[in-house]
Amino acid sequence: MHKDQAAALRVLASKAAPRRSINQHCRVIVVASGKGGVGKTNIAVNLALAWAKRGLRVGILDADMGLANVDLILGLNPRCNLSHVMSGERTLQEVLLTGPGGLKIIAGGSGVAELADIEQHQLDRFIDSLAELDNTLDLLLIDTGAGISRTVLSFALASHEVLVVATPDPISLTDAYGLIKVLAMRNHDAVLQVIVNMCEDDRSGIEVFNRLHSVSLRFLSRELSFAGYVPRDPMVQRAVRELRPFYLVYPRCKAALAIDRVADQLLSVNRDEADNGLKPKAADGLGGITGLFRKMLHLIRQ
Ligand SMILES: Nc1ncnc2c1ncn2[C@@H]1O[C@H](COP(=O)(O)OP(=O)(O)OP(=O)(O)O)[C@@H](O)[C@H]1O
Ligand SMILES: [Mg+2]
Repeated sequence: MHKDQAAALRVLASKAAPRRSINQHCRVIVVASGKGGVGKTNIAVNLALAWAKRGLRVGILDADMGLANVDLILGLNPRCNLSHVMSGERTLQEVLLTGPGGLKIIAGGSGVAELADIEQHQLDRFIDSLAELDNTLDLLLIDTGAGISRTVLSFALASHEVLVVATPDPISLTDAYGLIKVLAMRNHDAVLQVIVNMCEDDRSGIEVFNRLHSVSLRFLSRELSFAGYVPRDPMVQRAVRELRPFYLVYPRCKAALAIDRVADQLLSVNRDEADNGLKPKAADGLGGITGLFRKMLHLIRQ
């Protein structure tokens, strides 16, 4: 996108979405799946770009401790990650990378796992820097790794909102259900959003969601929300090979258009007059990034 076009969009969006005052929490969405390779990272990065285009200040925490995919898709090369923050070598602000659309990227590295063992004073410092992030971002997406590992789970269990990525593949569906089951049992207040990726068309996307939803209602008495679908699109793979996000390099491709719809749908979820869809539903008052990390730390240190 052209620089001045991006600036114009930001001004337009800022008229529609007035900046929130200091101390309002950032909306946090954890992106998770049961099965790996279903498109979590691609969805997180391109969704973040769609929100940035709407004038929102968006961050992505790459909490996948395997391959650090977020920076790869964005063509970035982070030298530092959360583990440098844990050790006190860097501040959180110093490890923040700025990507296209002004996205703020935090590479998790091994830092996420280290959270369980750091000293109280390090933890206090870390929570303080997160509070700063709460005030400077409107939305934070946390991209997790595959499976139901302890870390993935602790993020998803601590979050008020989880975006579950599933594909029409039966294994992906079974694994997505497995994740939803754990969340239904252990994170009662969470809003569970489902996005169907790599489907053939809208009809098959809705069908896949309906299947998951009916099983969830029947066996778990748990409502799911449909965030939308992203069709299988060769442009996604092409963009991945080019180390560029498809939303930027192929903005008219089917997947990019679908991402726009998902971005709007997710913004409309919590929308009321006052918050423009940004305020998280924090039933216990522990909202935002700080709240999520406090809860998560409580879970992993139990
Ligand atoms: N909508 C799509 N259409 C076509 N191919 C897609 C689509 N979404 C994802 N892919 C392909 O799937 C691959 C895996 O995607 P991605 O890395 O985003 O998955 P992931 O869930 O983050 O994987 P992991 O669990 O390993 O972190 C991509 O490299 C891309 O080739
Ligand atoms: Mg990934």
